Amino acid sequence: MTIIFHTDTIISVDQFITLLRQTTLGERRPLSDPARIEKMLRQANLTVSAWDGERLIGIARCLTDFDYCCYISDLAVSETYQRQGIGKALIALVQKQLHPEAKIILLAAPQAYDYYGKIGFERHPSAWTIFAKTSLAAPKDK
Ligand SMILES: CC(C)(COP(=O)(O)OP(=O)(O)OC[C@H]1O[C@@H](n2cnc3c(N)ncnc32)[C@H](O)[C@@H]1OP(=O)(O)O)[C@@H](O)C(=O)NCCC(=O)NCCS
Repeated sequence: MTIIFHTDTIISVDQFITLLRQTTLGERRPLSDPARIEKMLRQANLTVSAWDGERLIGIARCLTDFDYCCYISDLAVSETYQRQGIGKALIALVQKQLHPEAKIILLAAPQAYDYYGKIGFERHPSAWTIFAKTSLAAPKDK
């Protein structure tokens, strides 16, 4: 089996959805909304992918300025290809596209909670998110 990696090759909506369905990430992404999936693909500005022939078997889909920070939104490896170093190779290729001091940021899915620490990431004690449809708190009266 020869796995080929590409940076910024065109990935179709069907290929992306098929891959996500082959991982637990599928249940956490809007697969029933192909128009949104298409925008996720086209508006990401760094996507590294892994291929077995014509088959998309891994992806790291990122938003980045390339010089200071890079958010990996989706890291996924098809279940039958997991634990062969493909996830790590995808992240290494992302890193290679960035300034040597640029930082990678991500949120671990529950199934990958222990993964990132194992491959060298540090847990960040002051990371924050605000979930969709959550209103910002009103400023306090002075
Ligand atoms: C998480 C994921 C991307 C890892 O990809 P992968 O190609 O299987 O991982 P690698 O082969 O690079 O693994 C590197 C090391 O981490 C370990 N590892 C892999 N998945 C792990 C997990 N979920 N938890 C803990 N350790 C894990 C591997 O055993 C390997 O250890 P070793 O070097 O001692 O053998 C992949 O399992 C996946 O797609 N999971 C489902 C989707 C998901 O949760 N994605 C993450 C979203 S934040």
